[in-house]
Amino acid sequence: MKIAVCRKSHFNSAHRLYNPNWDDQKNEVVFGKCNNPNYHGHNYQMEVWVKGEIDPDTGMVIDLKILKDIIKREIEDRFDHKNLNLDTEEFKTLIPTAENICLVIWKILRDRIEPQLELKVRLFETDRNVVECGSSF
Ligand code: NI
Repeated sequence: MKIAVCRKSHFNSAHRLYNPNWDDQKNEVVFGKCNNPNYHGHNYQMEVWVKGEIDPDTGMVIDLKILKDIIKREIEDRFDHKNLNLDTEEFKTLIPTAENICLVIWKILRDRIEPQLELKVRLFETDRNVVECGSSF
């Protein structure tokens, strides 16, 4: 029987949605306010879900203290209080939509969590806009 556990986290970042292959008018039509040239911020809320068998030695799927440290080191330290477009390698050429941010986070965490564990990341850009990436459970 597999069990799912979750660690919640958050970070604050600025971004601008802009496709350099389009003119200003098309960027405005497609991205609206999120195309603001002077950037804007979001309080991103994140849920990191891990699913797997309970380890009989620990009674845990994953030690949530360890997961907390991985999220702090790999995600919060990397993106919190940053301008995603200007300050991060990940979004130098990748448009920092919620979809792309969620996928980038999933890929970073996937490499750092035991391969036998399933991983799902849920990113809330606002209370109403949510993106999910990874295993479907
Ligand atoms: Ni935005």
